[in-house]
Amino acid sequence: MIILKISIKTEHYQILQKLQKIKKPIEARELSEKLKIPYEKLMSGAIYSLEQVGLAKFQEEELEVITLTKEAKNYLDSGLPERQIYNVLVKNNRKEVKLLDFSKEIEEQLNFPKRLFFVGISKMKKNRWIVSSKAMGYEQIFINNEFPEKSEEEQVLDLFKNSNSDSLSKIPKQLQQAVNSIYNRKLVTKDKKILRLVELTPKGKKITKEELQLIDEEINLISSEMLKDGSWKEKLPNLKSYEVNALGPNISTGKYHPLTIIINEVREVFHSMGFEEIKGPIVEEAFFNFDCLYQPQDHPAREMQDTFYLKNPTEGKLPKKKVVEIIKNTHENGGNTGSTGWGYKWSEEIAKKILLRTHTTATTIRRLSHITKKSKLPMKVFCVDRVFRNESEDRTHLAQFMQIDGIVIGKNLTLSDLIGQLVEFYKRMGFEKVVTRPGFFPYTEPSMQVSVYSKKLGTWLEMGGSGIFRPEVTYAWGIKDPVRVLAWGLGFERLAMLKLKRNDIRDLYQSPIKWLREVSY
Ligand code: PHE
Repeated sequence: MIILKISIKTEHYQILQKLQKIKKPIEARELSEKLKIPYEKLMSGAIYSLEQVGLAKFQEEELEVITLTKEAKNYLDSGLPERQIYNVLVKNNRKEVKLLDFSKEIEEQLNFPKRLFFVGISKMKKNRWIVSSKAMGYEQIFINNEFPEKSEEEQVLDLFKNSNSDSLSKIPKQLQQAVNSIYNRKLVTKDKKILRLVELTPKGKKITKEELQLIDEEINLISSEMLKDGSWKEKLPNLKSYEVNALGPNISTGKYHPLTIIINEVREVFHSMGFEEIKGPIVEEAFFNFDCLYQPQDHPAREMQDTFYLKNPTEGKLPKKKVVEIIKNTHENGGNTGSTGWGYKWSEEIAKKILLRTHTTATTIRRLSHITKKSKLPMKVFCVDRVFRNESEDRTHLAQFMQIDGIVIGKNLTLSDLIGQLVEFYKRMGFEKVVTRPGFFPYTEPSMQVSVYSKKLGTWLEMGGSGIFRPEVTYAWGIKDPVRVLAWGLGFERLAMLKLKRNDIRDLYQSPIKWLREVSY
C-alpha cells in the first residue's frame, strides 16, 4: 500500500520552518516583511496552502491603535505643557508665583496660549507637583514636589518615544486610564486595526521533514497520457494529496452589507405603511437646516464646534423673498403665527451659510416647502439618509451617521396618530415595545422622545425625537390648523446595533471582514 505523505511545495516548507522557529502567532504583515515575500503572495500562496493541508491557520484580531496628533509630536522632546511650565519654575528656582503674572510669563517664554497654560496648571495640580492657594485674595501656586516622578500621561508619551513610532497598539493595562485622558486632551487619536495572525496548528508545529513530501511542482490532475505511458507512478509524490473526508472550502460569496439590508428594511416598512421616500441635499443652507425649523440663530447647535460649515462656497441661495420675509418675521416677532417670536434681529447672512446637514429634518422641511393648496392630503413621506455633526467619535458617536425622518401632513391629526405611526414602524421592524416621553425641540409642540425596549439588553433605549410641527414652522408654507404635520427623526445606527448585536457604533462602518462573512442578517 502506498502511504501518501502530506505534500507541500518546497518554498512553502521554508515558511513552515520559519513558523516552527517563531513558535508564537505572528502578524501576517510582519511575517511578510521578515520573509521578504509580498503580503498577498504570502497569504494566498503559502498560508493558504499550509492551511489547506491542516498545518497552519490564521485568525483575525481587532486592535485599538492610538496615534499621536501633531500637537503631541511637538511634546515628544520638549515634554507635555505641564512639564514645560514646571521646568520654568524649577529652572528659575521659583517656589511660589502669582498665577496671573505667571500665565503672562509663560505666554511669552513658551509661546503658550492661555488655554494651554491653564491645561498645564490643572495637570500639575492633579499630579500634585504644585498646590495652589487663594489666601491672599488672588491665586498663587507653590511647588509641592521638587523631583516629581513622571506622570502616567508622560509615561504614555514615553512609550511612543521609546518605540520610535507614531502609532501604538499595545498599551500596558495600568496606563490605559492615562491613554483615555490624553485622548480627551486630543493628543492621540484612536482607530481600530484588523490584524491577521498566522499560527501553526499542533500538527504543523510537530511535523518533521521526513513526514512531508516536498515537491517543486505540484500535479493536481492525472492525464490519460500519464495513465497510458505509466509515468503517473513516478509522478505520484508530486500529486496533490486528496483528503476525501475534508469539507469543501467555505465560499464567501458577495452579499449586501448588513447596513444596506437594514436600510432597505426601513424603506420596506415605510412603504408598507403608505409612505413615499424623499431625498434631499447633504450640503444644505442653514436656512433649511435651522431657520425654517424655528431654531434661533444663536442656538448652540449652530456653533462651529457642533456643525460642519463649508469653507467653499460659504454662502448659498435663499428661496423666494416672500418666504424669507415670513421666516424672518417669525423669528423676530412671531409674524402672523400667533407666536411672539424669539425677539432678536434675524440675519440673512447667517441663514445663507452652507453646512453639512445635521439632521434629515432639513429634508422633510424641504418637502414641506413644496406643499401647495393642490397637494393631496394626507401626505406621508420619509427620508433615511446621512447626516453630519462635529463630534468626537466614540462607542456611541460618529461624526457621520444616519437618521430616519418622517412626516405626515393631514387634517385633524393628533398626538395619538403620531404615537400610532411610531409604534407601528417599530413593531414592523421587530420591536414590540415603544414608549414616548415628553421632550423638547424648538420646532415641535408637543414634543416626544421615543424609546424602544431591547429584550437582549433588558433596557429601554432612546431612539430619537418626534412631535407636531409648531405654527412657527408650518405657516411659512401655508399650512394651518386644522391641517397639522406629525414629524419624527430617529437614529438609524442604534437600531442597526440592536439588530446586529454590536455595541460599538464604529464597528458598523469598520466592517471587519470576518464579521461581514459570518453575520447572518
Ligand atoms: N431632528 C431631531 C434630531 O435630530 C429629531 C426630530 C425630528 C424631532 C422631527 C422632532 C421632530 O434629533
